[in-house]
Amino acid sequence: MTTVRLNSADPVSFDTDALIVGFRSGPEGARPATGAESLDAAFGGRLAATLTAVGFSGKPGELAKVPVFGAITAPLLVAVGLGDSADAETLRRAAGAAVRSLAGTARAALLLPAESADQAEAVALGALLGAYGFSRYRTNGEVKAPVGDLTVLSANEAGGSDGIAGRASVLAESVTLVRDLVNTPPSDLWPAKFAEIAEQRGGEAGLSVEVLDEKQLKDGGYGGLIGVGQGSANPPRLVRLSYTHPEATKTLAYVGKGITFDSGGLSLKPSASMDWMKSDMGGAGAVLGALIGVARLAPKVNVVGYLCLAENLPSGTAQRPSDVIHSYSGKTVEVLDTDAEGRLVLMDGIARAAEDSPDLIVDVATLTGAQIVALGWRTAGVMANDDAVRELVVEVAGAAGEGAWGMPLPEELRKGLDSPIADIANLQPERWGSMLAAGIFLKEFVPDGVRWAHIDMAGPAFNKGEPHGYTPKGGTGAITRTLIGLAERHASI
Ligand code: BES
Ligand code: MN
Ligand code: ZN
Repeated sequence: MTTVRLNSADPVSFDTDALIVGFRSGPEGARPATGAESLDAAFGGRLAATLTAVGFSGKPGELAKVPVFGAITAPLLVAVGLGDSADAETLRRAAGAAVRSLAGTARAALLLPAESADQAEAVALGALLGAYGFSRYRTNGEVKAPVGDLTVLSANEAGGSDGIAGRASVLAESVTLVRDLVNTPPSDLWPAKFAEIAEQRGGEAGLSVEVLDEKQLKDGGYGGLIGVGQGSANPPRLVRLSYTHPEATKTLAYVGKGITFDSGGLSLKPSASMDWMKSDMGGAGAVLGALIGVARLAPKVNVVGYLCLAENLPSGTAQRPSDVIHSYSGKTVEVLDTDAEGRLVLMDGIARAAEDSPDLIVDVATLTGAQIVALGWRTAGVMANDDAVRELVVEVAGAAGEGAWGMPLPEELRKGLDSPIADIANLQPERWGSMLAAGIFLKEFVPDGVRWAHIDMAGPAFNKGEPHGYTPKGGTGAITRTLIGLAERHASI
């Protein structure tokens, strides 16, 4: 695990393998964003001109590696562009992109705007999130390890292990856990295994953890989890994680979709839509990562987390399109399409979470392809039964630098979910507005008077494209930090 610390040392003489320097773009070309004087002097005032000569202009995300010819102690300088902004997300992305480009290097120091505590945390967090690799399944030893030792050069040195660097490390370790879980192939991560990891990692963080196995789920009336999981030899689990603070006045409940592999079931997906469905447990991952992060940061709030874990496979025991299941809430559901399984496990998780009398329920799920159609790969859709709640979730996500946008829950979509024989169907007959229809479906399982938000992050949970900023290829850990931020917003003061 990569470590980070803050240090107010002089960047010119700081002993490291690479010095990352933030640059702003301007009409006269790139100029160092901070610590400019001593660096410029060390390079005889020629640093900016050299960068311009190699075509570096300081635009956000731009990178240039330049030789230092002994001008500073570090043997390599990495210039990273910030454009004309020093907001937290610009800093996180720049730090992440620069650190990511240094894989194979042992140590790096970052000279980016870090005067305020928020800026220093952003640089530290972006750097840590950029120092990610998943090489567990590589055997050739040729993979470059992420940078292991990071230093944020900042006059704001208050970040001891409990301070800025400590906080950034907690956030990054939660996100790293989620990325690792998402990247783990389903042959090594099935519901019971996920539950075991939650027990172990949650226990270490001081959470209370309870696991319901398939027998307890059946006896308890969790028809959704049982129905979705019954086609697999790896039976379902429901994990309850709980964090309590003695001075808390509010309780939040998080519910995560944890389909460890989504083949679609008998309503089988085509191969091209299936090969990345190991990521369909990203919601449960985010809930686990967030609960661990919350336990370590210890805000004055209570948080319970539910991981709705099942594997969606076709077999002789699989549920059939037209089956009717009895949900935990008591409502019956006609399963018209076994590939609309996320809502079936979430309906049980949400109804169970409501029994904890939370002030707010937030579910997180890789729920619909329609989310990607509507909002693309990097922006999650946020729906809620309360406008203020929806706006709060979008705002907290924005502050964390996680893309999220408010979406409506149009009442007229409810009639599309009418079933000829059960209380509700899991699919509407047309595909238009599928993200919203899924939200409408879930809303049916939220008891009256309970505030609830639904985050559909089908796109953001898994990066099928190239790495960018602090985001690697594969599992991203999306929405984990939003959930931690929401808990902090609900802490009593
Ligand atoms: N896990 C998928 C949604 C998904 C798609 C996640 C792409 C990540 C990337 C979900 O279970 C699913 O299959 N949804 C269907 C629902 C449909 C049958 C109503 C979909 O969106 O196509
Ligand atoms: Mn599905
Ligand atoms: Zn799914």
